[in-house]
Amino acid sequence: MRTRKAILPDARRIHELIAAYAMDGTLLPRNLAEICENVRDFVVLEDRGRTIGCGALHLYGMHLAEIRSITVARFAQGQGGGQLLVKALLGEAKKHRVSCICLFTRTPEFFGRLGFQLAQREDLPDKVRKDCCVCPRLNNCDEVAMVRGELPKFAILPEPPRWLVKLPL
Ligand SMILES: CC(C)(COP(=O)(O)OP(=O)(O)OC[C@H]1O[C@@H](n2cnc3c(N)ncnc32)[C@H](O)[C@@H]1OP(=O)(O)O)[C@@H](O)C(=O)NCCC(=O)NCCS
Repeated sequence: MRTRKAILPDARRIHELIAAYAMDGTLLPRNLAEICENVRDFVVLEDRGRTIGCGALHLYGMHLAEIRSITVARFAQGQGGGQLLVKALLGEAKKHRVSCICLFTRTPEFFGRLGFQLAQREDLPDKVRKDCCVCPRLNNCDEVAMVRGELPKFAILPEPPRWLVKLPL
């Protein structure tokens, strides 16, 4: 198994891999256009010529990046692929000199083994302003925030206008 940076021809397979876990809400759904637009954020996992996993690193700035859309195809789980993906994305973050990497997850045990620690959603205002405040699960979110590195001391995204913030379900 090995990881490599994704290129546009990977977009369809990335879309399939994410869709398999978006139905039950494990992963945020990403449409094909969005994946094409952000394909440079992605790393893919390959085994014998097949793409069996993916993950993305979204850059907010040097103070914060987020690991998202990380998944390994069901048949290939438990063989170290997930760990390889996280390490590759951490390598990307290091290359960009990012001081804090965050993620939101329902599987904190997996990320805890890779050096991530629990955090408060409020400590990550850029993430909240980008995604949480337009998420229907805003006030009953069952994901935990985790970080690796130094918590950001500032945010670069502006607060969204009140009319954009979704009301709780
Ligand atoms: C989470 C996921 C990416 C892990 O991928 P994987 O290839 O199975 O993980 P690995 O084989 O690299 O596992 C690394 C370690 O984490 C552990 N681990 C894996 N999945 C775990 C989970 N869901 N909960 C707790 N520990 C887990 C493994 O037992 C392994 O431990 P070990 O090193 O002591 O053997 C994969 O299960 C997946 O795609 N899940 C569905 C999508 C998802 O939940 N993504 C995360 C959303 S934030």
